[in-house]
Amino acid sequence: MKFGHFDDARKEYVINTPKTPYPWINYLGNQGFFSLISNTAGGYSFYMDARLRRITRYRYNNVPLDMGGRYFYINDGGTIWNPGWSPVKTELDEYECRHGMGYTIITGKKNGLKAEVTFFVPQNYDGEVQQVVLTNESSDTKEFAIFSMAEWCLWDAQDDCTNFQRNFSTGRVEILGSTIYHLTEYRDRRNHYAFYTVNDTIDGYDTDRDAFLGSIYNGWDNPETVKAGKASNSFADGWSPIASHFKKITLAPGETKTLIYILGYAENPQDKKFADTKPEGLLTREAWVLNREKADAMIDKYNTPEKVAAGLEELRTTWDNLLSIFRVDTPDDKVNRMVNIWNQYQCMVTFNLSRSASYFESGIGRGMGFRDSNQDVLGFVHQIPDRARQRLIDIASTQMPDGGCYHQYQPLTKKGNSDIGGDFSDDPLWMILSVAAYIKETGDWSILDVQVPYDNDESLAKPMLDHLTVSFYHIVNNLGPHGLPLAMRADWNDCINLSCFSDTPGESFQTYTNPKFKAEGGYSKIAESVFVAALFTYTGPAYVGILEHLGKTEEAAKAQAEIDKMKKNVMESAFDGEWFLRAYDANGEKMGSHECEEGKIFIEPQGFAVMSEIGKDVGADIKTLNSIDKYLNCEFGLVLNNPAFTKYYIQYGEISTYPGGYKENAGIFTHNNAWIICAEAYAGRGEKAFEYYSKIAPAFTEETSDIHKTEPYVYGQMIGGKDAKNFGQGKNSWLTGTAAWNMVAISQYILGVKPEFDGLRVDPSIPAAWDGFTATRQFRGDTYEIVIKNPDHVNKGVKSLTVDGVAVDGCIVPVAGDGKTHKVEVTLG
Ligand code: GLC
Ligand code: GLC
Repeated sequence: MKFGHFDDARKEYVINTPKTPYPWINYLGNQGFFSLISNTAGGYSFYMDARLRRITRYRYNNVPLDMGGRYFYINDGGTIWNPGWSPVKTELDEYECRHGMGYTIITGKKNGLKAEVTFFVPQNYDGEVQQVVLTNESSDTKEFAIFSMAEWCLWDAQDDCTNFQRNFSTGRVEILGSTIYHLTEYRDRRNHYAFYTVNDTIDGYDTDRDAFLGSIYNGWDNPETVKAGKASNSFADGWSPIASHFKKITLAPGETKTLIYILGYAENPQDKKFADTKPEGLLTREAWVLNREKADAMIDKYNTPEKVAAGLEELRTTWDNLLSIFRVDTPDDKVNRMVNIWNQYQCMVTFNLSRSASYFESGIGRGMGFRDSNQDVLGFVHQIPDRARQRLIDIASTQMPDGGCYHQYQPLTKKGNSDIGGDFSDDPLWMILSVAAYIKETGDWSILDVQVPYDNDESLAKPMLDHLTVSFYHIVNNLGPHGLPLAMRADWNDCINLSCFSDTPGESFQTYTNPKFKAEGGYSKIAESVFVAALFTYTGPAYVGILEHLGKTEEAAKAQAEIDKMKKNVMESAFDGEWFLRAYDANGEKMGSHECEEGKIFIEPQGFAVMSEIGKDVGADIKTLNSIDKYLNCEFGLVLNNPAFTKYYIQYGEISTYPGGYKENAGIFTHNNAWIICAEAYAGRGEKAFEYYSKIAPAFTEETSDIHKTEPYVYGQMIGGKDAKNFGQGKNSWLTGTAAWNMVAISQYILGVKPEFDGLRVDPSIPAAWDGFTATRQFRGDTYEIVIKNPDHVNKGVKSLTVDGVAVDGCIVPVAGDGKTHKVEVTLG
């Protein structure tokens, strides 16, 4: 069942009922000011940091789920309704929500009155613009009232939802004309304020929540002021300050009225916080006066429909440019809309938001993950290489001199988070992968010379290349009894904690130190990760390639020898016959073996092992891929492990605490599905690669939205696996490494357009039924118009490749470097 449709020409998803199976959201903002907005206008705004600079309030895990946001209420002759249906939930005559690239348009119609609201955050602007277009489509004159409403958060979102003994007394506001200012703590320790304005006169206002609602027993669905058709002109003094504008409107038949509201944020330098004179008409209880220059300038920027149109146009152009770097035209519309629009869009959102604020991440929890942020780079590096470069330097600056990493860092301070600490065994390797991806994309080798601190200490700075070296050797220097990497606190799978052994509620599986291993440094020196071994053999060659390019042949040979040794160790101790083991636990027992009672096979090591060609000579790759198909493949994707754990295995840590089929215990983790898609494509099995791709790619789940529940235009982290009651149900949409890895899987492995150090590889692995496809790729300043022909209907194999008509050996298009457009023709066969 569908709840909308894709409008590819406008790059929008169009939702045609407010009652989606879960709030279907969008992100507004691309730089400093961000908003989340659901299809019923729920959500919230913040500046830079979702925890420390929260602008509007939102209650998580609320009942109903998505309650609170920025709402417009209309009272038309006693009928009260919202353009986005919620919170009053009056049945609308027409409803539509269009989520586009950085904007959302919600339209509601009731009794001949149409309200179309466009929400967006303009480029280089710290505010959300809301343009409301009201049209009287009836044949009678209409007299009605419109109320806006935004509830302020008292800045620190964590404090705001816990520290009531203080917060109920600190709220401060001011009103000047049609602008309501939020000034809590401004006089004292803050230099920032927020405002909510409308570009017209108003007939009243409310700034106190309880006055607006009329009673503490009312909710957003039932505000007395709206019912009375009249604001109460309340002035907040502590409690919960809000901003609501009240305006009476009369429209003749066919007449339209446009109102532009702006929800903005501004900072003043310390010495310019206050104004000398008090503007006429200022409603305030303060003895001081705010310096409003910044807000005035911001309001002036978008106070007419023409200016709003120009702002929207600029936003469109920005996105058109970001999405023009890589475009494809394949025989499958769903692939086209994922690659050309939504997957790339989601990758940019993960760049902006990391894992901070979504409808599953509260914005007050985690910082930026070391491994997450490195992997995200793989998805957006072609779109914003300069910002990716800075991101890589920021991440590397938190690394330890020995190659170990803080598992997370805080976006505002850019410092490693010592509460969580380090010793996640996979972390350093993602750094090699991401820096290599940056160089392959840009050809900018100079990043390796940049002096990058260790542990944020400038005195410890070394060239970026050194960071890659210590990353590589951090693995080599921490091997266990089988010569495989130590598992430490966890590897990619945060929930395989082979040193934790927790039997106490509330203990963190990742940060708890088992007294048993305390003397050994906090984790077992026996437990080994086969996943990290395979990731090492997959990423290691990139490090070797870098060294070779730099002419460091001896170091390159030394590193290569370590990779070869690791492959040998894996084949000797970690190939289970039909697939690769997952780990050795702290007792030296196999995890993920046919000998195990449950959890016999795990997905994570397999893809990287296949792509590293471990045991390829004895057919280990195909056996492994066949085993995945046999044990992990199901209707909605590949489950993480099988059989799911039904008992608590204390020696494995968090994984078996999850009910079977959810999260890391046999859920469909879409992130690591991508590794198998890549591996199938790598092995030339284009049908399987495409089958797995299309099982989880959002556009393909659109038809089953009633089961899938989350947005059909973005990936979620997880889908309920075959052991789950809610098999096929998506969770944790938007902020996940799945976005980057599926972008890699479809663009670089299936469609096969893959940046390499020395050029652009074109080597697709597609369904045999395809006649071919075309792609446009901007790469290192040139544009490549690629035409793939598949006359023999094969899955893989480049029979010939020409660039501007000239035959090239192999499948790497050399870098032209002349800033021109080049024609690349590839014939498969
Ligand atoms: C989450 C984390 C990621 C981890 C994965 C598996 O997606 O963000 O870092 O690898 O779970 O545990
Ligand atoms: C887990 C989550 C994972 C997260 C980890 C660490 O249970 O599945 O995504 O990274 O906890 O907090």
